[in-house]
Amino acid sequence: MKSIQSEPGLKIYKLNSDLKRAQSLQHELLSGTVLLFKRVFQTQDARILRNLVMDWSREQPTLTFDKNANSQNLNFHRIDGSPEKSNLPHVFHQYGFGDIDAINNNLKLKLMEFVTPMLELQNLLAGTAYQIDDPNFRVKLLQYVCGGGFLAQHTHPLEPQRVGLICALSERGKDYDSGGTTFDTPSGKVDTGAFHSAGDIIAFRYDLPHEVLPTDPESAVDWTSTKGRWNLVLELLDTHTRSNYRP
Ligand SMILES: [Fe+2]
Repeated sequence: MKSIQSEPGLKIYKLNSDLKRAQSLQHELLSGTVLLFKRVFQTQDARILRNLVMDWSREQPTLTFDKNANSQNLNFHRIDGSPEKSNLPHVFHQYGFGDIDAINNNLKLKLMEFVTPMLELQNLLAGTAYQIDDPNFRVKLLQYVCGGGFLAQHTHPLEPQRVGLICALSERGKDYDSGGTTFDTPSGKVDTGAFHSAGDIIAFRYDLPHEVLPTDPESAVDWTSTKGRWNLVLELLDTHTRSNYRP
């Protein structure tokens, strides 16, 4: 399969709807090259999903910090605005879905339009067999708010997930101006910020050090705004709790 663009450590592909073609890229991915699949989803659908998630969160109390966000079968959202309180410094509004069946039908259907193909891609690329109803599995949206939303550099254990997927849900120049995910690859530092737009999926070997650079740090933070850099990720609860900060 031929890339449409590449630079050291990064290759960009157009998959169209034929996700199975990605399987031939498994070796390249597991060798440490970051893969970026353009336009797997439509920008408009990404915007609809963001708005549905925001609407859902307005009707839910925010999870308080005395509760465990990594419990199984938990749907929650939480505003993480105090990086000094976390082992892995970050600023974002997170929306976690560990029990998709329990959310309203509109949101569930739109979320599954993203999650079903992403899970297929994950399993194809990683050689895994995860299913959506695995109690250890969840979907998370991360809203890196304008005004400095970020996530410090960290690593995950390679096994058992092997591959991380990040689907962008917002557009540079419209929802935010700066910020993006960077990776330390065997070929050097890769900054995906200029390439990763709404509907595009990044796939990376799960143990590559990565971080999310601050989103529009010169702006004021408004936690009620739908703007910012939005990402959708798939994760396993027990992998998540073993992520390591690399100061
Ligand atoms: Fe990560």
